[in-house]
Amino acid sequence: MSTPSPAGATAVVVVAAGSGQRLGYGMPKARVPLGGETILTHALRGVAAAGIARQVCVAVPEGDSELRALCEEFAAENGPDGPLLSVVDGGATRSESVRAALEAVLEGTRWVLVHDAARALTPDRVFHRVADALAAGAKAVIPAMPVVDTVKTVVASEGGDAEIAPELVTGTAPREELRAVQTPQGFDLETLLQAHDSAASSGDGHAAAITDDAMLVELLGTPVHVVKGASQSLKITTPLDLIIAEGLLEGPLGMRWVEG
Ligand code: C5P
Repeated sequence: MSTPSPAGATAVVVVAAGSGQRLGYGMPKARVPLGGETILTHALRGVAAAGIARQVCVAVPEGDSELRALCEEFAAENGPDGPLLSVVDGGATRSESVRAALEAVLEGTRWVLVHDAARALTPDRVFHRVADALAAGAKAVIPAMPVVDTVKTVVASEGGDAEIAPELVTGTAPREELRAVQTPQGFDLETLLQAHDSAASSGDGHAAAITDDAMLVELLGTPVHVVKGASQSLKITTPLDLIIAEGLLEGPLGMRWVEG
């Protein structure tokens, strides 16, 4: 039996149902303007440009007709040769939005990449590194970057210490072992569905503490492989991130200055 080509057997889930409160625009983050378009348009264009999927499943905030219309525009822009676009209502947490989108994945799909719309400027090469690792046999693969800050664990100060400062250090994580994790995160579809089912049945699936899908796969004991991410794949979360993203698009050197 021949191995199916990655593009023919791959779906990309784009989660775009977040509120974007930390960005402070008073609208869902996916609709926030970036370089004259929206964050979601940039994210979808990046997925299409990577050319790795036959289907793109987008989770948008429930009842958001503007974002649905944007998705339709994207589908029209790509024409009949582009990936099939499916749009679903997202949930109250990222994890619920991923699950809603997974329900729309076509039968026969073998691999799924889960991507944050907020990482609107993720370059092709990151999608390709993830898709290549799946095709090479990984059941789970994440892009990540080395951590530049020293990272410490803390607890809330108590008693007299609380009068000095709000937190106390409990330890220092070894920086060379730490990675800042990005998306798209790639999975064998069956493994990801099993991971979500297992979290939901143990009552953990709805927890806001589930910040990525790899966490759920780690709980199954399945190895999660790590490939190189990219600096411009930053998650647009705060006003400063938006300024950086605008700078990447419009600066004198545009996106070209970033390597890796
Ligand atoms: O909130 P956070 O920054 O972790 O969101 C990461 C991604 O998950 C964003 O693209 C956001 O739109 C998406 N999300 C979602 N549904 C939610 C919360 C977040 O699709 N309920």
